[in-house]
Amino acid sequence: MNDFVYREGRLYCGDLGIEEIADSVGTPFYCYSLPTIRRHVRVFEESLRGVDHQTCFAVKANANLAVLAALGRMGIGADVVSGGELFKVLRAGIDPGRIVYSGVGKRVDEIDMALTAGILMFNIESEQELEVLAARASILNKRAPIAIRVNPDVDPETHPYISTGLKENKFGIDIDAALDQYRKAVRLDHVDVMGLDCHIGSQLTEVKPFLDAVERLKVLVSRLEEDGIHLRYLDLGGGLGITYEHEEPPHPSEYGSAMVKAAGDLGMKLIFEPGRVIVGNAGILVSRVLYRKETSGKTFIIVDAGMNDLIRPAFYNAYHEIGVVVEKGIGREKVDVVGPICESSDFLAKDRELPVLDRGDLIAVMSAGAYGFTMASNYNSRPKAAEVLVDKDKFYLVNRRQTYDDLTSGETIPDAIMEEGD
Ligand code: LLP
Repeated sequence: MNDFVYREGRLYCGDLGIEEIADSVGTPFYCYSLPTIRRHVRVFEESLRGVDHQTCFAVKANANLAVLAALGRMGIGADVVSGGELFKVLRAGIDPGRIVYSGVGKRVDEIDMALTAGILMFNIESEQELEVLAARASILNKRAPIAIRVNPDVDPETHPYISTGLKENKFGIDIDAALDQYRKAVRLDHVDVMGLDCHIGSQLTEVKPFLDAVERLKVLVSRLEEDGIHLRYLDLGGGLGITYEHEEPPHPSEYGSAMVKAAGDLGMKLIFEPGRVIVGNAGILVSRVLYRKETSGKTFIIVDAGMNDLIRPAFYNAYHEIGVVVEKGIGREKVDVVGPICESSDFLAKDRELPVLDRGDLIAVMSAGAYGFTMASNYNSRPKAAEVLVDKDKFYLVNRRQTYDDLTSGETIPDAIMEEGD
């Protein structure tokens, strides 16, 4: 259940008609429902009630400043993976003491930025990263709170591109090698060993892989205890899936209670890094039909949003439901919905039965609130779409559409080129 509903054949977000928003801001645009985001947070938090925990939203899923600010106001922290994400969450007013920093490739300037901000914890992904962090903390005369991200080698049974907890993945430190890293870390000046972290993958539709991972982490925690290394935080990552089509992921309450049952008795504060489950079904991408084109055997609906706006279908062959914004009731047909980009993989839906569409009609690509705008690019020099946040009967343009000037800002033509003859 979310805020995107049909009333008399017209798609609404809360009390506002999508068509009216499109008339006002143009297309394509992302539309997020604030009440839906808030409800997802409440449901997630409810499932962890009574357990010492901190939820750190995975910013890579949706980095819109207004969305981040709304989450921050609800006591949610952030899981960041770059200096840019850290900059944005601080700008959005998220408490640095609620920020964890993950990612295999933290640069020195990014490490310095996080040390200066005073974040909760660095999730360390390699031995060299640990050494660099210790050195930077010493130079800046700061203390670096760390968790080691281990790779528990469990199969999340999700798309191979978004599984991260298998031995062959680049993420984390092999769980069998982690003990040595901890022994090393506790001896480092300026480093405070605070926790243990894992993230096994995204769009998981079963609880079992999460529980398998917790079991392996628990073995390591007790092994560390024997060595006199006591940890305060257990970061269980993100990864809970959502329904795009027919998937039946566990309800957040089922996930939460399973995790609490498995890890709630360790005396450690639990950290969660959900992304998709908070924002995925709280957002849509609205696009207008430019042309319909019939070739021998296929009908193409060519729309003004492409893989530069939403890359998931092209990248993962991901399914996104497509709704028409105003139903005309003139029959259905099987079509490919494609964008304007010059790539054959630029599609939003293939061989999809949809209501008959024609020039000027609006479509809504559903479940686009996570990994939509954050993965958008300027490919084919297309300005990035606008982002709109709806709160019941009000909408806010929270990110204006890029202009052509935005496309060249930062670029220069060296005089030498202009002075050169043929
Ligand atoms: N924590 C870490 C360390 C992560 O790498 C991720 C996602 C998350 C948390 C949040 O996972 P979530 O709760 O959203 O599943 N672009 C792909 C998804 C990539 C996910 C990468 N890491 C997609 O569009 O499906």
